Amino acid sequence: MTRVFSGMQPSGDPHLGNLLGAWVNWVSMQQDRECVYCVVDLHAITSPTEHDPASLAERTVGLATGMLAVGVDPQRSILFVQSHLPEHAECTWLFNCVAGFGELRKMPQFKEKSAGKGDSVSVGLFDYPVLQAADILLYHADEVPVGDDQRHHIELARDIGQRFNHRYAAPEDPVFPLPKAVHPPAAARVMDLQEPTVKMSKSASSEKGIISVLDEPKRIEKKIKSAVTDSAGDIRHDREGKPGVSNLLEILAAATGRQVASLASEYDGGGYGAFKLAVAEAVIELLRPIQARYAELAADPGEVHRVLEDGADRARAVAVPTLERAKAAMGLLPPR
Ligand code: TYM
Repeated sequence: MTRVFSGMQPSGDPHLGNLLGAWVNWVSMQQDRECVYCVVDLHAITSPTEHDPASLAERTVGLATGMLAVGVDPQRSILFVQSHLPEHAECTWLFNCVAGFGELRKMPQFKEKSAGKGDSVSVGLFDYPVLQAADILLYHADEVPVGDDQRHHIELARDIGQRFNHRYAAPEDPVFPLPKAVHPPAAARVMDLQEPTVKMSKSASSEKGIISVLDEPKRIEKKIKSAVTDSAGDIRHDREGKPGVSNLLEILAAATGRQVASLASEYDGGGYGAFKLAVAEAVIELLRPIQARYAELAADPGEVHRVLEDGADRARAVAVPTLERAKAAMGLLPPR
């Protein structure tokens, strides 16, 4: 059966980009695939500005609660916390000896996050995609549901897996299957509502452009009504020429499961006011059951902890033998 792995960082509140870019696929892929989902807390400590030790544990439980609230089913899928399995950090070391300095330096996310920081940037931030490759490859994942911003990281995981197999395994018996990214048909890159040429992100300067998964309906309506558009007044999809309207069209398509083109022809001519109201309503309806489920689950944090403990046990059963095989392939002496 096809194996799926994906993860999300417990930094900042999950937003509409996380939901539409990744979580919607996480949930639907559970139907016919073996899925492993992870709160990647080791990734969340790579940037000192985003890492708050006082709130990290709470955010980790909060994000796991969010994953359950959107529909991750712990009976079907494995849900766990990355740092509960030391195998992730250990596998990263093996892959550090396979990954190249040049390819890591070129990663767009590293370039963005390290810009202007000079030599003070952490080795962890540089090595971040190698840890991500370990996450994916330890579970023999074939598919990785993510937003468009993770495309380069998944390609790197594929390159590392391929290089490892080529160096340390026989061609007919590779250690790692090569993963591929899976993006949603619309909203693979949800943009900031106030700055529609920049992706919606937890680290944005103003929260007016971000819709949090837990935002109240009134707040959502207000944010969407004040979303930046343009002065032309027509409703059509053109990312370059009409980034604000295109973003709203993609959000509406993803929230309703409809096609961007048919929505554009339906709303064109009716003005931005009515269109924005339709987008706000669709988002509010999409989030309503998630918010209700979140409130229920948050009232019983013991249950979330129990799910994570069980998830870690099941994750270990997959990751430990994979790591042992990788170590043996590299020639490391097994303990007696
Ligand atoms: P993170 O925590 O930044 O984001 C989690 C997921 O949300 C997607 N996403 C978006 N999709 C559409 N529009 C947006 N504006 C938007 N912002 C975020 C991301 O693409 C991602 O799918 N490095 C990863 C976490 C990670 C991971 C992994 C993912 C660690 N190990 C292994 C997959 C497999 C990250 O920082 O995602």
